[in-house]
Amino acid sequence: MPRPDLSALTWPRRTDRLVLRPLTPDDVDAVLAYRGLPEVVVHLSHGVLDREQVTARIADRIARGLPGAGNPLLGLAVADPRTGRVVGDVMLRLEPSHSIGPVTDEWEGTIGYALHPDVHGRGLAAEAAAALLAIGFRDLRLRRITADAYADNVASNRVLHRIGMRLESTSVATSLGKDGTWLDDNTWALLREEWRG
Ligand SMILES: CC(C)(COP(=O)(O)OP(=O)(O)OC[C@H]1O[C@@H](n2cnc3c(N)ncnc32)[C@H](O)[C@@H]1OP(=O)(O)O)[C@@H](O)C(=O)NCCC(=O)NCCS
Repeated sequence: MPRPDLSALTWPRRTDRLVLRPLTPDDVDAVLAYRGLPEVVVHLSHGVLDREQVTARIADRIARGLPGAGNPLLGLAVADPRTGRVVGDVMLRLEPSHSIGPVTDEWEGTIGYALHPDVHGRGLAAEAAAALLAIGFRDLRLRRITADAYADNVASNRVLHRIGMRLESTSVATSLGKDGTWLDDNTWALLREEWRG
């Protein structure tokens, strides 16, 4: 299929307990409230973020959702539908499938997520991540979706298992963690034909 068209997606998306819609500049305070916490960023590629960094991060996500941007990225706010409070964010990053043979027009995606600790432990990340799989496979017709979680990020690995992804590989001692120890990285994956919607 040709390059996935993020502008053709419709918003908001509802799940049982959440509403998902593209991040906007108005979400800076809400995102700062969790991406600015040391306990949230332990396993993330970035450190504790300040307001300026969150503002830039959201602007980058908005820009990468526009037609014509490099490899597209869908950055979504995850909100409580009763209050509108943004309790987290999720992303789906897209790239063309790799080929060492004929040119392919298939695409694949990588998902990621972070939630405010206030709402951890209720299964909300799994609910939001499952919605991302539906957007990726059903709406964008992606061939494959992957996710990476450091092996000691127990909650994230549980989320990926729960939404039906397959543990595909573990890279041993690939990244130096924030505590100075080397971390193993689990890659989870799912093909469109394996997805049980
Ligand atoms: C990863 C994260 C999104 C999970 O969110 P969540 O909504 O709390 O996840 P869930 O409530 O669905 O819990 C997932 C599972 O992990 C378990 N779990 C949660 N925290 C745990 C912990 N500290 N130790 C062991 N198990 C834990 C839950 O019991 C649940 O298990 P189950 O599927 O058997 O019921 C959340 O912890 C977070 O935002 N972390 C910081 C950012 C981050 O690490 N993002 C992922 C990067 S790969």
